[in-house]
Amino acid sequence: STALPDVAERTLVAVKPDGVQRRLVGQIIQRFEQRGFKLVGMKMLQASEDLLSQHYSELRTKAFYPSLLQYMTSGPVVVMVWEGHNVVQTSRTMVGPTNPVEARAGTVRGDFSTHVSRNVVHASDSPEGARREIQLWFQGQELVQWDCCDQHCLR
Ligand code: TYD
Ligand code: MG
Repeated sequence: STALPDVAERTLVAVKPDGVQRRLVGQIIQRFEQRGFKLVGMKMLQASEDLLSQHYSELRTKAFYPSLLQYMTSGPVVVMVWEGHNVVQTSRTMVGPTNPVEARAGTVRGDFSTHVSRNVVHASDSPEGARREIQLWFQGQELVQWDCCDQHCLR
């Protein structure tokens, strides 16, 4: 009877090694909280080449793939699962285009990066991609279900 969505969409967002090293984790989390999304999983880890080769399997034939894996294994990442209405598409908008030269101020990449090979953050590009990536990075028990105290809160 209310407008509350019954099945919440989820997406995977990761702060890449450059974002962690530049102390941008807090600001990135803040943007997603402020927008109204719900954090349901988060951890820091040094990602293995094996995990990243699965994460980026669609890119393995690209010329930049070896340097992408080198970059992504160069330090820890902070990987998160965010939940909410249209969270996949909205997160992509918040993150901005892949190449920061095209990213407007106000997006994460537009505010914090200049080069496609150091673009600070990852966000899943589709609901199917998000499901695949969440399963790859998280165990089921690492995702936490919790409710807002306000029943009208869409968060
Ligand atoms: P992609 O999935 O196309 O972009 P997005 O992260 O926006 O979904 O590519 C994955 C990452 O690969 C991208 O964030 C940065 C890196 N990359 C390069 O280093 N050079 C490139 O030319 C492209 C397209 C991507
Ligand atoms: Mg992508």
